[in-house]
Amino acid sequence: MPLKFNRLCLPLLLFACHLLAEIPQCFHFTWVGAYDNHSNIQTETCDSRVGDFNDIPCEEPLVVTPDDTVPDVKALWQNTTENRENFLCQMSPGRSCVKYSYIFKGGIQNITYMCANVNSSNGCYRQLHPTGMVVEACVCTSRVGLIPCNGCSRTRLGGATGWALCLLGLYQWLNKYRIV
Ligand SMILES: *[C@@H]1O[C@H](CO)[C@@H](O)[C@H](O)[C@H]1NC(C)=O
Ligand SMILES: *[C@@H]1O[C@H](CO)[C@@H](O)[C@H](O)[C@H]1NC(C)=O
Ligand SMILES: *[C@@H]1O[C@H](CO)[C@@H](O)[C@H](O)[C@H]1NC(C)=O
Ligand SMILES: *[C@@H]1O[C@H](CO)[C@@H](O)[C@H](O)[C@H]1NC(C)=O
Repeated sequence: MPLKFNRLCLPLLLFACHLLAEIPQCFHFTWVGAYDNHSNIQTETCDSRVGDFNDIPCEEPLVVTPDDTVPDVKALWQNTTENRENFLCQMSPGRSCVKYSYIFKGGIQNITYMCANVNSSNGCYRQLHPTGMVVEACVCTSRVGLIPCNGCSRTRLGGATGWALCLLGLYQWLNKYRIV
């Protein structure tokens, strides 16, 4: 009987709790991609990775994954033993969820998830650098109680290549004044 209660009511209870958390959330961390010695990640910071004054997005905590595969954000969201709040930020009014991916020859090098004040409409924007590196910025709006939208990989490619640059520029500016 108690087992039945748990099996039926726990998901409902959790669902209700999610709905009660009034502010939608975004994922908030950097997956550093392929990484040599996983125990070394503890000693790394965004400063040590990308320095202080530059335009490369980076958000702590820094994360490595088993086999260096792309993070399973759905598992993270659903894992109740994990301290999930560490990997989330609140999408307060005026903010959006953003996902920055560095892609080289079709392989994702690293991903930064964050909340940011971005003055652009939802969608994914790609910018191709002369080196062959592609920077993809996806902007979206989360809904209360649902898995943060910047986790999913539903890619709608925008033709406007200037957007990623624009977003990066904005990020740099925000970062400079410590708004994000
Ligand atoms: C990995 O890093 C840890 C902590 O810095 C160190 O103790 C260990 O020797 C390293 N292992 C290898 C194979 O480099
Ligand atoms: C992500 O990858 C790009 C390209 O290799 C690199 O320039 C950047 O520093 C990386 N970002 C982080 C946070 O490590
Ligand atoms: C949930 O997170 C904990 C702590 O990181 C981890 O040990 C456990 O394997 C995870 N469980 C699942 C189902 O992913
Ligand atoms: C961007 O900001 C300007 C000025 O605040 C505003 O007029 C414009 O509508 C905004 N654009 C979008 C796409 O939100």
